[in-house]
Amino acid sequence: MYEIGEREAAAVRKVILSGKLFRYHQGHNAPETGRFEKALARKLDSKYALAMTSGTSALICALTGLGIGPGDEVIIPGYTFIATALAPVAVGAVPIIAEVNDSLTIDPADIERKITRYTKAIIPVHMCGLPCDMSAIMRIARRHRLKVIEDACQADGGSYRGRRLGAIGDAGVLSFNFYKIISSGEGGAMVTNDEKIFQRALIQHDAANPFFMDESPAGKEIFAGLNFRITEIQSAILNVQMGRLDGILRRLRQRRRAIIKVLQQSDAFRLAPSNDTDGDCGVAVPVQFDTAEEASAFVEKHAKSWPMFRPIDSGRHVYSNWEAILQKKSHHPKLNPWKMHRRKISYSKRMCPQTLEILSQTVLVRVPLAKSLTEIRSEAKHLIGAK
Ligand SMILES: Cc1ncc(COP(=O)(O)O)c(C=O)c1O
Repeated sequence: MYEIGEREAAAVRKVILSGKLFRYHQGHNAPETGRFEKALARKLDSKYALAMTSGTSALICALTGLGIGPGDEVIIPGYTFIATALAPVAVGAVPIIAEVNDSLTIDPADIERKITRYTKAIIPVHMCGLPCDMSAIMRIARRHRLKVIEDACQADGGSYRGRRLGAIGDAGVLSFNFYKIISSGEGGAMVTNDEKIFQRALIQHDAANPFFMDESPAGKEIFAGLNFRITEIQSAILNVQMGRLDGILRRLRQRRRAIIKVLQQSDAFRLAPSNDTDGDCGVAVPVQFDTAEEASAFVEKHAKSWPMFRPIDSGRHVYSNWEAILQKKSHHPKLNPWKMHRRKISYSKRMCPQTLEILSQTVLVRVPLAKSLTEIRSEAKHLIGAK
């Protein structure tokens, strides 16, 4: 989260005093959630948006919406928050881990190598606001008749070739947890243009939805869903945050450009290639060294004065730290997707060597929104040893 203040506080106060904290009221969406979903759909140019409790629940709803379950394989990158791997497991499918390339996003060439007769979907992840190579991914998906769920949890509002991230695949998910570009502390959303995906996600996110919406379930698909309902308090915060989104992105991108201008003068490292420089959210500038040791030394030298880290050191964002996945553990042995699967899946900590090498030789130089452009221009010079 970059900004929150009086406007969010006033919006929350209004909801509390209205006494309407629940998202459904007398067969209608309550005002804040209904308004937020409309605004999000409009912003992303998507037909449907469904707000809910988290990005993880949005991933589960998107997979459910697409009918993915036991016997299916879902290709995900080895660099993403563990939730991207947990969501397929939650619906009974098996995550297949693919390499990332120098862009820090899923490597289309490795997606092709990982496709089997059981593959049903790909989840490209726009990590750290960096857009995936969506043209290549959509081409592969079409050729192999696979579904695409964009994980835009770290890229609220970003874009690829003029289209907002999340709205390019069959479904897209966003997160509004505390660390995201806009936030309500916790929160998430799924977007799609497909009515069937939306309707199934609606049931998964709220098994009681037809009851609250005063609809008869007759003639409609029903199945045992869960409860991932958002509250009006979260939606009230998100409505204000939504108004801030494009301004935050514009200022992040200005600062990112200023940092790049300085960093590109160094020959100690290279700037990582981007799949869409203009659409990049501007959260961080990835720079790449020839060795992991050089990357470490850079962080050691500068991290006290400028926020930065090596992605290899980011814990549960690296597949080699996903113990529950690597050990194929589900909450109950009889509901274990790997045991239900028709082929043996093997994981190992070294299974994506390209990913480990890239993540250890890269440093993500954070873009500090609170600093002015003048401060950034002068302080970034220290990162390249210039005065
Ligand atoms: C790439 C990615 N996917 C999914 C999630 C899950 O989002 P949430 O924390 O809202 O469940 C996160 C959150 O950190 C994320 O970074």
